[in-house]
Order: sequence, then structure tokens, then C-alpha cells
Amino acid sequence: MSDLVIYFSRAGENYFGGELKNIEKGNTEVIAEYIREFAGAELFKVEPVVEYPADYMKCIDVAKKEQQSDARPEIKEALNDISDYDTIFIGFPNWWGTLPMPMFTQLEQLDFAGKTVKPFVTHEGSGFGSAEKDIKKLCEGAEVKRGLSVPGADVYDAKDIVKLWIEE
Ligand SMILES: Cc1cc2nc3c(=O)[nH]c(=O)nc-3n(C[C@H](O)[C@H](O)[C@H](O)COP(=O)(O)O)c2cc1C
Repeated sequence: MSDLVIYFSRAGENYFGGELKNIEKGNTEVIAEYIREFAGAELFKVEPVVEYPADYMKCIDVAKKEQQSDARPEIKEALNDISDYDTIFIGFPNWWGTLPMPMFTQLEQLDFAGKTVKPFVTHEGSGFGSAEKDIKKLCEGAEVKRGLSVPGADVYDAKDIVKLWIEE
């Protein structure tokens, strides 16, 4: 059985240590690709039908409203069967203290019984926030292993720690 990475990541404008920068590839996607390289995992990217604004300030506003209304934004393609995989890596940016809402849309559709889950987050200082607690609820029946938290600005220097974490 092989490994799978289910992740969300948004390119565009983002904060790096207090400075706004435009990035072509999201931070979380960089980590997802390391996992593909080291573990041979397949990648599944969760993409909302309505894209988030590239503009950072607009995006945080939309995301905040979605979280406050406990929204389940529609996603372009939903994965509905993970029976071929035993380890599922779940990656996302910390958005207002937890996972972006499209990850809730996706994860709620899957049966995690008997799976091993390894969560990873990229962030600007808050680490996982309450995401690990939320993942335990979303992935009922899975064994949730120690998560990996990487500051967004450090993803290109994180290859070694990702490799060690995969091997845990
Ligand atoms: C809508 C939104 C909300 C965010 N909320 C938080 C937060 O609460 N805590 C934090 O540390 N970083 C927060 N960030 C920063 C991101 O977690 C960080 O830049 C991350 O690396 C982005 O990953 P990505 O490029 O894969 O989307 C937020 C960013 C956005 C766009």
C-alpha cells in the first residue's frame, strides 16, 4: 500500500515575517512535494470551486467569514475513497487557528478507520493552533501521529526535518 498526501495550499500574496510577498507556489505545497520525493506518496490537492483572492487582506477576510459561518466551500474534485492507502499525510496552512474550511469539506467525506494520519502545517507563528484537535475529530478511527509544524518562511530549508519526520 502506498502513502497519500491530502493538502491545501494557496499561491499569491502572503506574509513572511511581517512583509507581503507574492509567491508562485504555496508554502504547504513545497512540503507536500518533499513528502512525494521521500515517501513516494501521491499528492491530492484540495481546490475550492471559488478561488480565494490572491490579495492577502481580501483573502483573510473571506476565510474569516467562512470560519465564522462554519462553511463547507464546494471543492473542484472530491476524493471519496482512501482504501488503497495506509498512511495519509494531511497538510494545510494555519488559517485563523485551524485548517482552511475546504479541508473540512474534503476530510468529512472520507473513512479514516484503521488509517495512520500524519498532519503537517505551515504558519506565521501559530503552529497548529487547534488544528490537531480538529483533525482528530475529522479523522475518526485513525491513529494520528505527531504533527510537523513549519513556519512558512522556512519551507525551503525544511527538507531534512521533513525527511526525519517521515521516518518517525
Ligand atoms: C486566510 C489566512 C489566515 C491566516 N491565519 C493565520 C493564523 O491564524 N496564524 C498563523 O500563524 N498564520 C496564519 N496565516 C499565514 C499562513 O498560515 C502561512 O503564510 C502559510 O505558510 C501559508 O501556506 P500556503 O502558502 O501553503 O497557503 C494565514 C494566512 C491566510 C492567507
